[in-house]
Amino acid sequence: MRRRYVVGNWKMNKTPYEAQLFVEELFSVEGGLPEDVELGIAPPYPALDRVGATVGPSLVHLLAQDVYQEVSGPHTGEVSAEMLKACGVTQVIVGHSERRRYRNEHEIDLTRKIERLAEAYITPLYCVGETLGEREAGTTERALSKQMSALEAFPEAAPRGLVLAYEPVWAIGTGRSATPAMAADVHRALREMVRSFWGKEAAEKIRILYGGSVTPENAAALFEEEDIDGALVGGASLKVASFLAIARAARRTVPD
Ligand code: 13P
Repeated sequence: MRRRYVVGNWKMNKTPYEAQLFVEELFSVEGGLPEDVELGIAPPYPALDRVGATVGPSLVHLLAQDVYQEVSGPHTGEVSAEMLKACGVTQVIVGHSERRRYRNEHEIDLTRKIERLAEAYITPLYCVGETLGEREAGTTERALSKQMSALEAFPEAAPRGLVLAYEPVWAIGTGRSATPAMAADVHRALREMVRSFWGKEAAEKIRILYGGSVTPENAAALFEEEDIDGALVGGASLKVASFLAIARAARRTVPD
């Protein structure tokens, strides 16, 4: 059975100090962290080193929100996979729609980012999702399959530990989440694409998270869907209470 996974993408929020306070609060919650759910947090770059020192080797994964596609050199303002690794980062978000849209990132760049991560033994969390226009035009699957084509550069096997996130662009930060049925349909289609790339076992193993206005209120209904293996949470991950409420909703067996 796939282990559920809930990741907080903090985007451009929290200073290193605020990030540390979050982690300290997270680790001291009454009743502890849910045992059968993996957690991850993706602070902004300046907070990574400090948070990395605090989370240490625990069940809370430290993610970065992006990585540069070159190994090193004259790339002012960029950050390499090795630098992230040195901060304790074990996974990196690649292809978030905000970067595709505002930073003009295309599949060709994203493939290269995933290659750099693989070289540094870092797991990619690869995001895909259609725009409202694409959904309304009935071209959701075509849009997703174009985005998934960034993974075709890995014909032998999926990049180690690969996690996918389905984040419909129209659901991000809008308060308008996809319905559980809508998300589950897309997750099944993505799993089928994974099967066609790397076979049945890879498809059964891969975790596909849903992201887009996930809140403590709608999380449980989303997690009722077998194909939804967790969540990539933006706004609701900024407070320990709401992040944890979502993580608790992700438990497969909820004690009475
Ligand atoms: P929100 O949860 O704020 O809609 O953001 C989702 C997201 O983009 C996570 O990567």
